[in-house]
Amino acid sequence: LGKNIIHKTTAASTQQIAHQAARENAEHGTVIIADEQTEGKGRMERRWHSSKHKGIWMSIILRPSIPPAFAPQLTLLTATVLADVIAEQTTADPKIKWPNDLLINDKKAAGILTEMQAEQDQIQYIVAGIGMNVNQTDDDFPDTINDKATSIKLETGHDQQIVQLIQQILLYFERSYDMFVQNGFPNIKNKWESYGYRMGESIKIRINHNELKATCTGVAEDGALLVQTDREGTQKIYSGEIEWFH
Ligand code: BTN
Repeated sequence: LGKNIIHKTTAASTQQIAHQAARENAEHGTVIIADEQTEGKGRMERRWHSSKHKGIWMSIILRPSIPPAFAPQLTLLTATVLADVIAEQTTADPKIKWPNDLLINDKKAAGILTEMQAEQDQIQYIVAGIGMNVNQTDDDFPDTINDKATSIKLETGHDQQIVQLIQQILLYFERSYDMFVQNGFPNIKNKWESYGYRMGESIKIRINHNELKATCTGVAEDGALLVQTDREGTQKIYSGEIEWFH
């Protein structure tokens, strides 16, 4: 992983570059990194603020031989990699908010955007997009997201070395991916659950717009969140069906 790194000072979005490279047969593990993105994109058509040298904006091309239905496992894997790097390289205490947000002190410090190209039940490629807020201060975020977004610097009080963090992410990613190829999902699942935001707590959430009390108990093989409620027992929740309260 990362033998082939494409670095841009400015890019519209590293996702776009990755998709194009993948269509042109870029190999598994190709990494695209930009110092800044002018049209960084988040999930659900949201914009991702990616100002110059303030964070890590990168996309990794993966060519796993797993069924398309298991692709969400790679989002979970990516989240555990980011959580491990933050936990081990900084003094912050990261949590993973299902499906793909990295929180520090309940605010979002990183996000993951996984996009898949599949044909006839076979994955052509996956682009794992990573956006990590590293050295922003409050002025760097627009007012509209200031109460929800944070950076590692804001939460730890220290400037971080971006290049070193990138190296660590690639290193951990490779290790974790190799383990995933050899041993499958169980290791990822355990690690993910150990970082899971509000795991095992009785909380108020909204599922398909219904407000209820529930306990998040883990993640399933297809990437779903496992939620236990008094009424329904354990059920699987998929992306877009859940709203968290703060
Ligand atoms: C989210 O939380 O909504 C996902 C954010 C993903 C942002 C990263 S930054 C690198 C890559 N390029 C993009 O345009 N988006 C992803």
